[in-house]
Amino acid sequence: MSVESIKPDRLKKIASPTNIIFGNSKGGVGKSTLALMAGLGLATRHQNADIEIIDLDPQATSSDSLQRFTNERFSVVRDEDFFLASGSPNNGNIVNHIGHDRARPQRQKFIIFDSPAGSDPIRSSFLLHCDIIFVPTSVADADVFATHKFLAGLQELIDKRSTADERLPAVVILPNMVDCRDDFNNVRHAFGAEPFLLGHPLYYAPIYRRAFRADEGDVSVKLLLKQAKPYLKWLVDVISNHDSLPRMPAKLYQL
Ligand SMILES: Nc1ncnc2c1ncn2[C@@H]1O[C@H](COP(=O)(O)OP(=O)(O)OP(=O)(O)O)[C@@H](O)[C@H]1O
Ligand SMILES: [Mg+2]
Repeated sequence: MSVESIKPDRLKKIASPTNIIFGNSKGGVGKSTLALMAGLGLATRHQNADIEIIDLDPQATSSDSLQRFTNERFSVVRDEDFFLASGSPNNGNIVNHIGHDRARPQRQKFIIFDSPAGSDPIRSSFLLHCDIIFVPTSVADADVFATHKFLAGLQELIDKRSTADERLPAVVILPNMVDCRDDFNNVRHAFGAEPFLLGHPLYYAPIYRRAFRADEGDVSVKLLLKQAKPYLKWLVDVISNHDSLPRMPAKLYQL
């Protein structure tokens, strides 16, 4: 299909990629697991879209284990040019990459960033070019505490942006490894005053610990996708409809 034959409203929708990041300075909260699930979930739902996973983690969890799924429309990128010598993100190069001329501009594209523990929002201005910033957290006190700090950094980055009319990313807190409904209510309470969005809970289940296992026939990943089907449907819906998400609610807004 040529670009000329696509209706203008659809062209507008697909001309720029949808950029999603899973970020939290706290380690082990599920950033890589959720990035993998989102990538595979989007690839399944949007069969004509290109999906690109960008691994910003020096540990390369995503890029190593997802290589086996790559094909013409599913790619995994790890590029030294996305980092400065200090290890911080090279914001200019990342933003350039997001906005560069696409090889296949007629196709919808989703870019998913997996980011490392320890990343500082203030040094990550490329975050302002994302459509959704997902912030996974567990319900453990230490993780909730660290997540508050990360959200405060995000808020500072948003407040310091140069042009006030820039479209803001939607910030969605994702409670992960939740044990029971009470756990979820505790998270909701803990983040009650934050001007961000609260996602559905992902419950603790051993299958998620095998998300990166390359076993024969990918049985673990298939089982994970099956077990997480309702959650993935919700997550992919949120990503697909990101334009209609509230940006900065007065207080926590439950999706
Ligand atoms: N819902 C869940 N239930 C059970 N285990 C989970 C769940 N989500 C993630 N895990 C496990 O928790 C561990 C940490 O997850 P993951 O590596 O995705 O976190 P991360 O935030 O990317 O960590 P890092 O900051 O080190 O990159 C992994 O062993 C993963 O399999
Ligand atoms: Mg990780």
